[in-house]
Formats: sequence, structure tokens, C-alpha cells
Amino acid sequence: MYRLGIKKKVFGLRHSEQSKYFLFSPVPNSFIPILHLLIRSLSLSLSLSLRIALLLLDLVGSIITQVLKAKPPTFDVILLQFFFLFLMDRFCCFRGAYSQSSAASSSLSGKGKSTQGHTKVSYGFSLIKGMTNHPMEDYHVADFVRTKGHDLAFFAIFDGHLGHNVPEYLQKNLFNNILREEEFWTQPDRAIIKAYDKTDQAILSHRPDLGQGGSTAVTAILVNGSQLWVANIGDSRSVLLKGDDVFQMTTDHDPNADRSSIENKGGFVSNMPGDVPRVNGQLAVARAFGDRNLKSHLRSDPDIQVKEIDHTAELLILASDGLWKVMNNNEAVEIAKRSKDPQVAAKQLTAEALKRESKDDISCIVVRFKAQ
Ligand SMILES: *[C@@H]1O[C@H](CO)[C@@H](O)[C@H](O)[C@H]1NC(C)=O
Repeated sequence: MYRLGIKKKVFGLRHSEQSKYFLFSPVPNSFIPILHLLIRSLSLSLSLSLRIALLLLDLVGSIITQVLKAKPPTFDVILLQFFFLFLMDRFCCFRGAYSQSSAASSSLSGKGKSTQGHTKVSYGFSLIKGMTNHPMEDYHVADFVRTKGHDLAFFAIFDGHLGHNVPEYLQKNLFNNILREEEFWTQPDRAIIKAYDKTDQAILSHRPDLGQGGSTAVTAILVNGSQLWVANIGDSRSVLLKGDDVFQMTTDHDPNADRSSIENKGGFVSNMPGDVPRVNGQLAVARAFGDRNLKSHLRSDPDIQVKEIDHTAELLILASDGLWKVMNNNEAVEIAKRSKDPQVAAKQLTAEALKRESKDDISCIVVRFKAQ
């Protein structure tokens, strides 16, 4: 985007638009209307550090105003503060703290196959740590289970933020929790919704060991090689190639899409130029597991879709937004289709996302179906 280019030059905008979480200390709810107004009125071309400083300043100002019952600062005072912050940002003080160093990237890949009912299922996965300072926050599950005469295949991507505790917890527990629901064999969608909710409650009650972080989730369960149940919260996505059609099996829960529910709960959605929409100026998705500090304004109920897997179903992709930010559904399917080996396909997808300069953690699972 041309505007973004200019801004980068002028303000040295160093944060990536990719970062899922925009970090500043949690703001008491009573200040949110004030912040809301301020963010909107000042959403000029600010760099990240400038915005953080401005928000903190505003917060301190509001506290002092409330405590002393003093007159709120007049417009020229705010303008003056703003000008100083601009100078500081321009010439010294904020650079570096938020810049991303390209830490050595690490990667993980693998594959597996099984016959499920009348369908041969094979999968491959590829996960690449992004160019961020923190450890990998994408986790995956790819597993076949035979239980009580049912064939089950599980696939999932969990994209964490503010730490890896929550996605790691989901990797260990979410599928078990789904299977633990009695209803799973009769009404899988209801079982999945209940299990998502119980899992989120468990995460929130594990204080303080799971920390402040959160995670998106996309889960796909194939029952007896014939029924595919896909659920998601957040912006991890799944697409299915069946016949000549590419179906998106998930809903991207971006803050603007869930805006009314966020506002009904007393939160707000920031739409800053050069940045993605964020819940309360912080989180870039409207639904997530965990996220204790934002939970009162977030949802964690999944959207669910089901499709029949028959001889026309060819492949399924699950991936984190590190992939979807740089390619659309059809492009991803085109790349995945090229190789019959799903592991090669998965690696080509993550390699292509890297080539397109995705800075986030990138992870994907490619599943191939073959009726027999
Ligand atoms: C899966 O297949 C087995 C045997 O073919 C059958 O007994 C079972 O009920 C099936 N499960 C579901 C959930 O349809």
C-alpha cells in the first residue's frame, strides 16, 4: 500500500501488521469510552510506539483527572504533547524496543496415512517459526484413532499469542475433551461446541500457570472416512477441494465481523490506518481460547461446518494466518494440488508463504482423500 510505504519512511513504522497482539497494559473498563474517542480522533498516521505512548499518556491523564477532579487537558495541551511525542519518535527514544530481530527460524514437518472406512487418508504438515523474538506459537495435531469401532482422524492448527502455553494446552487436551462428550456419536456439532466451551473454562481457571495468552483453533474431525466436521475460532482457516469447488470450511473471526457482539459486551474495535482491526486496540481476532484480560469482550464459541467425504473429495488444507495473509484459498489449493505427496505439498505451501514475506509463524496441514 502506497500510504503505508510513506508512513514507514516518515515514522519508521517498525512493528509488523502481522502481530496478533498489540501490547499495552490492560485498561480499566471505565476508561474505554475515553480511549475509544481518542483513538478514533487521533488515528492519523501514527507509528506503533507513538500510539503506545499516546495511550499511556492518555491513561495517566484520565487517572489524574479522575483522582483530582481536575479539568481535563485542553486541546492545545494535547496537541503539544502529541508534537513532543512525534519529535521523540522521530529522533530518538522509542526505536528498537519493538523492532523484530530475525531470530533463527526453526521448522517441523512430517506425514502419516491410514485407511478410514472406505477412504484412504494421507496427511503431511509443515510448521515454520516466523521472524519474531519469541518461541514458536503455532501448534498442530495430526492423528488417527480407532475407538469403539469408529475410525477417527484428527487434524488441528492452534495459533497462540502472548506465549505458547494455551496452544500447547489445546494440543494436549482439546480432542480428548471432544471425545469425552457422550453426544459426539449422535450430534458431533453440539459435542464440539460444548467441548470448546469446557476447554476454554479449564484454560481460564488454570491460573496463573497458563498465563495471559490465548490461541485460535481450527479442528477437523473425519468420522469413519465419510463425515468431515470442521470447527474454528479466530483466523486459522480450513479449505476443502471437492470436485471442482473450493469450500472454505471456517469463518474468519476478525474484529469487524464480530463488532456488534464486542460492543454489546462493552468493548470496542479499533481500525487504525496501517494496522489490522483490533479488539480494544489489542487483539486482532474476535474469538479466541484464553485471553483472560480481554475475555469479557471476546467470544470463544466455534463456527462449525460438515461435509460428506466421497470419491469427489480431493484435499483439505488447515493453516494459520501466517499462510492466509499472503495467499487466498484458490492459490493455496493450486499449490497443494501439484504434489500427490501431502508432506511435499505442505512444505511447498509454507515455502511459498515465506517467499511472499509472511513474517508470522506459518503452519499448515494438507490432507489427501482417496476413495477405494
Ligand atoms: C463407523 O463405522 C462402524 C463400522 O462400520 C459403525 O459401527 C459405526 O457406527 C460408524 N460410526 C459412525 C459415527 O457412523
